[in-house]
Amino acid sequence: MSFIECHNLSKDYPGQSALDKISVHLNQGEFVALEGVSGSGKSTLLALIGLLDRPTRGDVFIDGCSTHKLGLGRRCRLRNRYFGFVFQQFHLIGDLNVAENVALPLRYSGLPRHQWRNRVMEYLDKVGLADRENAYPGELSGGQQQRVAIARALVAEPRFLLADEPTGNLDSHTARQIIVLFQTLHQEGMGLLMATHNPDYAALAQRRLRLLDGRLQPNTP
Ligand SMILES: Nc1ncnc2c1ncn2[C@@H]1O[C@H](COP(=O)(O)OP(=O)(O)OP(=O)(O)O)[C@@H](O)[C@H]1O
Ligand SMILES: [Mg+2]
Repeated sequence: MSFIECHNLSKDYPGQSALDKISVHLNQGEFVALEGVSGSGKSTLLALIGLLDRPTRGDVFIDGCSTHKLGLGRRCRLRNRYFGFVFQQFHLIGDLNVAENVALPLRYSGLPRHQWRNRVMEYLDKVGLADRENAYPGELSGGQQQRVAIARALVAEPRFLLADEPTGNLDSHTARQIIVLFQTLHQEGMGLLMATHNPDYAALAQRRLRLLDGRLQPNTP
């Protein structure tokens, strides 16, 4: 069984279907790009796979476990155990500084508290923001906020990263550095599903999935 299996996933919003019968498997450690025009359903699919939202119909299996009947607590535990998220809108907490934002996932990771600071600084350094640990999100540029969000997604060393346009707000030089970081982590065994509008970055993936009007396009197994 694959690490992530989507079985006939559909998501309806009032008056509209955002996803329609998506069936796709993602293997442990795989690097997959998720493409499609704006509104095609990329963020919706990432939210369903990451157990942040529930499908209207269908089921997501994570590591062989059906999730559709699971309660909130078990879904949270699965999510914290396996996934890191980079949200399209960052979702940084404005009253917490950079280091505190990045440390958030460590609460659920089992890493002893005295090791948090080193781990946080390691990942802030990887995204080039070690010197801004005390800044607040409101004091940072959009690209810097995105890099904080990336450090936060990676800090607990997730088995699978779900990244929603992680380079959308970055200049091309910084974007490249982040993609190289993702490639390195992928080579070390991390899986990655990355929504992107950039065909050059999508081409680096082992597989490309393309959504159109909430449906997976053929030739994307
Ligand atoms: N909470 C919501 N309520 C109602 N409709 C929604 C909601 N979230 C998404 N949609 C609709 O579902 C469809 C898919 O949206 P989604 O955000 O998944 O697209 P996307 O591919 O991520 O687009 P983008 O590239 O602009 O980020 C869109 O038509 C959108 O309007
Ligand atoms: Mg989106």
